Amino acid sequence: MVLDEQGMQDYGRRLGRLLGPGSILALIGDLGVGKTFLTAAVAEGLGVTEPVISPTFTIIREYESGRIPLYHFDVYRIDDPGEMDALGCDEYFYGGGLTVVEWADKIAESLPPQTIVVEIGYGEKETERIVRGPRLDACKERDARARKDRG
Ligand SMILES: Nc1ncnc2c1ncn2[C@@H]1O[C@H](COP(=O)(O)OP(=O)(O)OP(=O)(O)O)[C@@H](O)[C@H]1O
Ligand SMILES: [Mg+2]
Repeated sequence: MVLDEQGMQDYGRRLGRLLGPGSILALIGDLGVGKTFLTAAVAEGLGVTEPVISPTFTIIREYESGRIPLYHFDVYRIDDPGEMDALGCDEYFYGGGLTVVEWADKIAESLPPQTIVVEIGYGEKETERIVRGPRLDACKERDARARKDRG
């Protein structure tokens, strides 16, 4: 789909409303394409009240003010998967919150199979982005199934 800022915000908010604990959203796309922008919209959908700040330097930021915790990763600076293990990423991935990972392609091996992958690319116009991701109803089903499998 081709989304402008408003469309991207709506998409993110909807994801934030429908995804549940243990969901992992992997965001893939070039520098400045809108990964943090989308994460901020997801946070809004979760009911997070604080502003979402890019975790570029901290790698992870946690937000607790929403319906469930939001764990926001930016793994741009991670060079080997061992660093992810050192951060205790599994505790987040299998915890009670929603995890969003910017630059997720860098740590693909560390991501669980139920990860929801969203790819963002630049569109023709300055304000357009091409977004490739699962349909939202499919997301919801997959999420519910993953939760059931985990018991
Ligand atoms: N359709 C759109 N969707 C998302 N962002 C858009 C769109 N059109 C313009 N923008 C702008 O693009 C910028 C995206 O910046 P953002 O920090 O979210 O990118 P990023 O992918 O997180 O970058 P980085 O790789 O540095 O983490 C914002 O300034 C936003 O306003
Ligand atoms: Mg970013």
